Formats: sequence, structure tokens, C-alpha cells
Amino acid sequence: MKFMLLLLPSMIPVITAMCDHRTSHFKKRAIVAAPEFGYHGDNGPLVWHRLSEVNTACALGRHQSPIDIKTNNTIVRPTSNSSADRRTWSFSVERYPQGTELKNLGTTLEVVANGTLIDRNKTYSLLQFHFHTPSEHRINDEYYPLEVHFVFEAPDQSLAVVGVPMEISAESDPWISNCFKNVGNSTMGAGDASHTGPLDFTGLKAFVERSKIHQYSGSLTTPPCSEGVAWNVVGRPLNIDVATYRKVKKVMGYNARYTQSDPGEVNDLESSCMASMHH
Ligand SMILES: *[C@@H]1O[C@H](CO)[C@@H](O)[C@H](O)[C@H]1NC(C)=O
Ligand SMILES: *[C@@H]1O[C@H](CO)[C@@H](O)[C@H](O)[C@H]1NC(C)=O
Ligand SMILES: *[C@@H]1O[C@H](CO)[C@@H](O)[C@H](O)[C@H]1NC(C)=O
Ligand SMILES: *[C@@H]1O[C@H](CO)[C@@H](O)[C@H](O)[C@H]1NC(C)=O
Ligand SMILES: *[C@@H]1O[C@H](CO)[C@@H](O)[C@H](O)[C@H]1NC(C)=O
Ligand SMILES: [Zn+2]
Repeated sequence: MKFMLLLLPSMIPVITAMCDHRTSHFKKRAIVAAPEFGYHGDNGPLVWHRLSEVNTACALGRHQSPIDIKTNNTIVRPTSNSSADRRTWSFSVERYPQGTELKNLGTTLEVVANGTLIDRNKTYSLLQFHFHTPSEHRINDEYYPLEVHFVFEAPDQSLAVVGVPMEISAESDPWISNCFKNVGNSTMGAGDASHTGPLDFTGLKAFVERSKIHQYSGSLTTPPCSEGVAWNVVGRPLNIDVATYRKVKKVMGYNARYTQSDPGEVNDLESSCMASMHH
């Protein structure tokens, strides 16, 4: 612990290199020019910081995502049931009656769409939404089979993400089954796209706005793991039907980062590195 007080930014690359040397079960890997991240092995979440110098926060950041959501490590909103309190937070996504494109990026399935998030007096615009299997956040230690992330950006370029866990059920919320309508198809590889059915988010808006929202300041869950992301994790799951879930899982594979330490705590990669240095 005393050692950590001496940590200076200029020492970080040295420490990271030393740590990598001592943890011999991680294969040595040269830093490549255009690093591709993945979810296991030598481009998985344990070594994202080694894929590029810009990914340092993945190993040293102390406000990383995802986390295990508890009532004591997030702010739960709204704080009351008054309509005035509810009105300070709103979420909406535009309708796509003719459907739109769902793209397989290799690391996730993504839809570029327009929408708006208002949190207190700050207005963000939707950039895209995408999915993770299994969920990245846990809620009171429980994980879910999927999680959808709606990624928003404010005019000052700060990011906010609305994360909604998804639970397997007999029926899907219609926008979910329509989103994956034409997936199901082992030929949908990285770079391929599929046209969605009609997308209407009216039901999702009502669901989200009537739920508890767990807010905390975290990070991107993919490299470069940048911090300052305003997370809004919905406290109850949306339903996805079994057949749709199986299709998504087959195409997307495993794409969840492991649970990070609580906001403000030492990054687990940094603390395991320190522990190995004291042996
Ligand atoms: C939250 O509560 C748990 C025990 O229920 C405790 O271990 C943890 O340290 C608390 N976290 C914070 C941030 O207060
Ligand atoms: C809001 O209302 C729900 C049920 O209508 C209740 O369970 C909950 O405790 C209320 N929350 C607050 C903060 O009053
Ligand atoms: C989002 O809105 C902009 C501006 O209105 C428009 O140019 C763009 O095509 C829209 N994108 C989608 C995916 O609807
Ligand atoms: C939003 O802005 C208005 C007017 O500038 C101000 O009166 C109000 O207190 C602000 N609300 C919040 C939640 O910051
Ligand atoms: C399956 O994928 C191929 C190639 O991407 C496409 O031509 C075909 O229409 C898809 N079939 C279904 C049922 O989505
Ligand atoms: Zn995500």
C-alpha cells in the first residue's frame, strides 16, 4: 500500500511492463499498430491495456465499468415518485417503421439510430445501441443473459449510456424480436449487416422511465476504457423470447467484460499486479 502512494504517472509503463513479466501465464504479445480487441486469450479483457498505449485506463482506471450494481455504490433515481422528479430524466429513441440496419461489428451487434436522453438539464443525442451476451452489469450480484447499451453523446462530447438488462421469457418486447428478425443465419459474420423489422420504442420508453435508474460515473466497457461516462443502468430486465435469444447468442458469441472493482477502488488488474510484486 505504501508503495502505491509513490506511483507517479511516469512510472506506470515500467510497472505495467514488470507486472506483465511476472505474470508468465499471460502470453507475451508485441504491441501491434492497429490492435483488435476481443474477449478471450491474447486480445481479451485481461490484456486490453497491452494492445495499445491509449488503453492504460483498462488496467489503472479506478472508475471502470461494468460493476456489480448495489444500492450503496450508485445513485438510485428517481429519488421520489413525484412526477416533477421523474420529469428531470427522459429517454426516447426514434421509430424506424421501415426497419433499419443491424450490423455485426465482430465484437457486438449494433444499430445506428437517433434519440434523446435528458438527465436534469443536460441533453444527449443517441449515437447507437448494441448488445452484450451475457450482461456486463450485475444487479445485486445477479447477471442476466443479455444487456443492451444505448450510447449517447452531449454537445460537450461527454458520453452517457443507458444499460438495460434482458431476461429470457416466453415473449419478447416487440422491438427486440424485430431487431433480430433477419438474424439467424450462420452466414452473418463480422462486417455483415441484416435488415431489422419495424422498430418502435414507445414501450421501451415507458418501461425505462417507470424503472429505477442506477447512476454512477464509469467507463467504456471496451478499449480504450475511457472514464467520465455517465452510466444509467435500469434496475429491472426487459424480456427476450427464447428463440430470439438463441439466435443472438449464436451470432454474437461471448462479449462481456468482467466485473470491475467498485467506483473509486483500485483497479483489480493493478492490485493483482501489486500483490505479485510483493512476493
Ligand atoms: C456496500 O455494502 C457492502 C456490504 O453490504 C460493503 O461490503 C461495501 O463496502 C459497501 N460499499 C460502499 C461503496 O459503501
Ligand atoms: C414509488 O412507488 C412504488 C409503488 O408504487 C413504491 O414501491 C416505491 O417504494 C415508491 N418509491 C418512493 C421513493 O416513494
Ligand atoms: C438521424 O438524424 C439525422 C439528422 O436529422 C439524419 O440525417 C440521419 O439520417 C438520422 N439517422 C438515422 C439512423 O435515422
Ligand atoms: C435546470 O435549469 C433550470 C433553469 O436554468 C433551473 O431552475 C433548475 O434548477 C435546473 N434543474 C436541475 C435539476 O438542475
Ligand atoms: C442469411 O444471410 C445471407 C447472407 O448474409 C442473406 O442473403 C440471407 O437473406 C439471410 N437469410 C435470412 C433468413 O436472414
Ligand atoms: Zn456496450
